Amino acid sequence: MKVLVVEDDAETRDILQAFLADTGLDVRTAATLAEAKAALSAFDPDVCLTDLKLPDGDGLDLLREAGAGGSARETVVLTGHGSIDTAIEAMKAGAFDFLLKPLRPSQLEAVFDRLKMGARDTNVDEDLWKTFRESGRFGAIVGASTATQELCAIVSRLARSDAPVMITGESGSGKEVAAQTIHALSRRRHKALVAINCGAVSANLVESELFGHERGAFTGADKRRVGYFEVAREGTLFLDEVTEMSAELQIRFLRILETRTFRRVGGNEEISTDVRIISSSNRDPLEAIEKKVLREDLYYRLNVLPIHILPLRERPDDVPILAKHFLDLVTQAEGGSRRRFSAGTLDRLAAHSWPGNVRELRNVVHRAYVLSDGVSIEEAVVQKILSGHPSGSFPAVQPTGPSIEEATVAPPAAPEASDGDPVLPESGIAPLPIEVRVGDSLRDVERRLLERTLEAVGGNKRKAAEMLRVSLKTIYNKLKEFQIEG
Ligand SMILES: Nc1ncnc2c1ncn2[C@@H]1O[C@H](COP(=O)(O)OP(=O)(O)OP(=O)(O)O)[C@@H](O)[C@H]1O
Ligand SMILES: [Mg+2]
Repeated sequence: MKVLVVEDDAETRDILQAFLADTGLDVRTAATLAEAKAALSAFDPDVCLTDLKLPDGDGLDLLREAGAGGSARETVVLTGHGSIDTAIEAMKAGAFDFLLKPLRPSQLEAVFDRLKMGARDTNVDEDLWKTFRESGRFGAIVGASTATQELCAIVSRLARSDAPVMITGESGSGKEVAAQTIHALSRRRHKALVAINCGAVSANLVESELFGHERGAFTGADKRRVGYFEVAREGTLFLDEVTEMSAELQIRFLRILETRTFRRVGGNEEISTDVRIISSSNRDPLEAIEKKVLREDLYYRLNVLPIHILPLRERPDDVPILAKHFLDLVTQAEGGSRRRFSAGTLDRLAAHSWPGNVRELRNVVHRAYVLSDGVSIEEAVVQKILSGHPSGSFPAVQPTGPSIEEATVAPPAAPEASDGDPVLPESGIAPLPIEVRVGDSLRDVERRLLERTLEAVGGNKRKAAEMLRVSLKTIYNKLKEFQIEG
């Protein structure tokens, strides 16, 4: 395999050359963009390893030229922590992967191992796109809009890399679905995808939850326990709601990202980590940094490859295909007769503003299915659900059930937005009635209150926890207990 190393720093260049030559590769070097371009035709490398900042230009230029004309040549980009934002650009422009400086030999080796295996499996890629064109499915992602198509393109590229991904987007917009798809398309797909709800990791057990413990490590440790890092070994660790991490948890993560090894609590063995980290947040991480909730140094380590998922209202072209997808799922789950949407229904759905995003659409489809009798799901049924539905219109209805005024603050009537959709005032959320009768089980009331609260806040668990005055962990526990899809 012929490798061209393009790097203006002489020391780094020499080290790279020596290291790669030692592994049996045929290596040439270039110190400038001009030299590199000349080497493309003279040396005809299989792989370009290029710095992004070159004295006479941009490594991205070389990347484009190296892969021009459908050439099978791959480019790996080198970048410093300061210029990480260009990493995502490089991946979009078709880089095979990128490496962060300072370079670690193991990282370099791993990338070349994958290059030698010909990890870019064009057949798999082609199959995926074919399926997407035919059925609107790309891994776990369903959609038809340009935005979703772009998302799928990024997801498939990022799946090749091992670098940390941070997915932001409103609650219910599909962050977890994107994470699942990245994992499913990555070389780690045969290993576990382990999700951690960062807000729910109990403070006094942080270490044990992450790293596990040996039997007898502390009082109550009567069995050996394997932690998240071990379960996710060679797989992917999904840090859900990363801005909810406790300060303690953040410190642990920083440390392990640096040392890449850990020990079980009470154990001596140094275990090396091999996980790909994908984190997600429905809050703006920069705001969380400003409020000192999230450490900046941790953010930079996790946010190497950022992905933002648009809210559903900004990609209405996804609505019909998603609605049909959920209708199929509901039909299967309910085991009932097949129904389809009338054209008017689909238009009505596409026009809705979906503050709860795809999750809300899923719930609405489920209700519409249950409330319809015939073969067709009519607009009137959907209209009724949407107008009685909190998130579309947030009507300032007065609570009819007792004791929910305690959990909610009645705002003034929601102001009308210019497009006619009433918007949710920042300060509060219109209360949604839940009906409570003497004789109802407490458990059932609790479940319904939780469901309604989550609906009212568009599925945002942190806000729901605030409204219900319980901890985020309690919300997670209850969701699990009631088997509510969160
Ligand atoms: N593009 C999509 N294709 C198929 N299903 C989707 C898509 N986006 C979201 N969903 C479905 O919508 C629901 C919410 O999606 P998901 O859990 O990924 O949202 P999220 O952004 O992680 O939300 P939260 O911030 O509340 O955790 C799930 O049932 C998921 O399967
Ligand atoms: Mg999620």
